[in-house]
Amino acid sequence: MVSENNRLGRFYGIGTGPGDPGLLTLKAAARLRQVDVIFAAAAREKKSFAGGVIDALGDCSAQRVSLPFTMAQAMADREQQWVSNAKTIVNELKKGHDCAFATIGDPLLYSTYSYLLREIIALLPEVEVETIPGIMAFQDLVSRFNLPTVEDRESLLITPAWGRDKNFSAKLKQADTLVLMKTSASRPELMSELEKAGFAGEFLYGAQLGQEREDLRRGAAAIEEAPDEYLSLIIAKRRPERQSVNPA
Ligand SMILES: C[S@@+](CC[C@H](N)C(=O)[O-])C[C@H]1O[C@@H](n2cnc3c(N)ncnc32)[C@H](O)[C@@H]1O
Repeated sequence: MVSENNRLGRFYGIGTGPGDPGLLTLKAAARLRQVDVIFAAAAREKKSFAGGVIDALGDCSAQRVSLPFTMAQAMADREQQWVSNAKTIVNELKKGHDCAFATIGDPLLYSTYSYLLREIIALLPEVEVETIPGIMAFQDLVSRFNLPTVEDRESLLITPAWGRDKNFSAKLKQADTLVLMKTSASRPELMSELEKAGFAGEFLYGAQLGQEREDLRRGAAAIEEAPDEYLSLIIAKRRPERQSVNPA
């Protein structure tokens, strides 16, 4: 059912940045204050990162709704959940409510938002959508160490570290700097793969960036010892920095 005045709500995908509320953009804050309903993925931990950033805004009066997203291996189960979550949002849009889906980092980088967006557009092709970018976790991590991500002709590869297959080491050969997301599984093997692929410069590690349990590490040995943490990433540089950078 469409709202009485026949107006559809607008849908916003909002990146909240990696966790520090200071890294939320002014545009994202303005939209979060303006919408009627804010959806976010239900937290894996006690409190969702995106939810924590929105709480810090203080004056956001939107209704808040958590959506379940299964981590099931079976694609059919995941798809079913995307469709069901999309239907929940579409119901609100049809009532004329402006809705946001808030997510950590940037909404278009390894995010549930992209799956959800496809389903919403399939159900409601006429909906107006605005995606508001967020600062990505890797940008926060390099900034803490004042480490240039890439310079001059260097190339950057962003890739998940889980589910590595036989093509993984070939992929690494092309890059001067790597951003490895989702690094919790088999980190010691991962570190030795990086060293074999010729990464002999900088290694940075960040877990739970912007949160109380934040863990920042530099150097391969320190990173190998880090406890398992889903919300963690590694930056690896092939060559050492020309000039030393301040430690965080
Ligand atoms: C589902 S992806 C989300 C990526 C996110 N859209 C971004 O732009 O950074 C989850 C992965 O992002 C990284 N990540 C996101 N936020 C993080 C944070 N605050 N601290 C450490 N890693 C983070 C980790 O590699 C984690 O496994």
